[in-house]
Amino acid sequence: MHSSTNKHVPWILSALLLLSAGLLRAEEEKLDPETKARVERFEKGPSTIDVSAYPVLIKANYEVFREKCALCHKLNRPINSDYALPDEWSRYVKRMMFKPGSNISAGAGKKIYTFLVYDSAVRKKAMVDEKLAKLTAEERTAEEAKIKEVLAGEPGKK
Ligand code: HEC
Repeated sequence: MHSSTNKHVPWILSALLLLSAGLLRAEEEKLDPETKARVERFEKGPSTIDVSAYPVLIKANYEVFREKCALCHKLNRPINSDYALPDEWSRYVKRMMFKPGSNISAGAGKKIYTFLVYDSAVRKKAMVDEKLAKLTAEERTAEEAKIKEVLAGEPGKK
């Protein structure tokens, strides 16, 4: 390759980086007033979770969550959100995975989902119970099975 072509590569890369950062910001700014108010409310709470009593695998998943979910907004947003049921978390993790520049693999998405379902079952138990009570019997059974699966973890590993 001709050397003058190579000289342009870093310039193009930084232009691309600037462009994608701009796109992420633009997406934050175009939130409708209702969503904006909701995310502001979510962000008022703490930005960390005490995972000292959680199983080793869940602690490892917490690190993935911390790394991947604080790229575009603060970690307070998911930590203090009103989402607690497995279906809510699978919907939101997927929604975040589809955002441009999120860079979350299917494997990382699964780990984050597992962490959020476990954490909700423990830390937001009252919210989980309240939401379960509002479901139909069929939906409730399905959600409870998903929570149980996460709480049971991988057999043999703690
Ligand atoms: C690529 C940027 C990006 C990444 C990475 C990202 N988010 Fe978000 N997130 C957003 C934007 C933009 C919003 C604004 C509301 C929306 O679009 O849903 C948001 C909103 C949220 C909300 C509030 C949604 C609502 O409408 O009530 C939650 C909860 C959330 N994110 C959780 C997460 C989790 C969990 C992760 C990690 C899996 C994550 N985010 C990673 C960009 C991102």
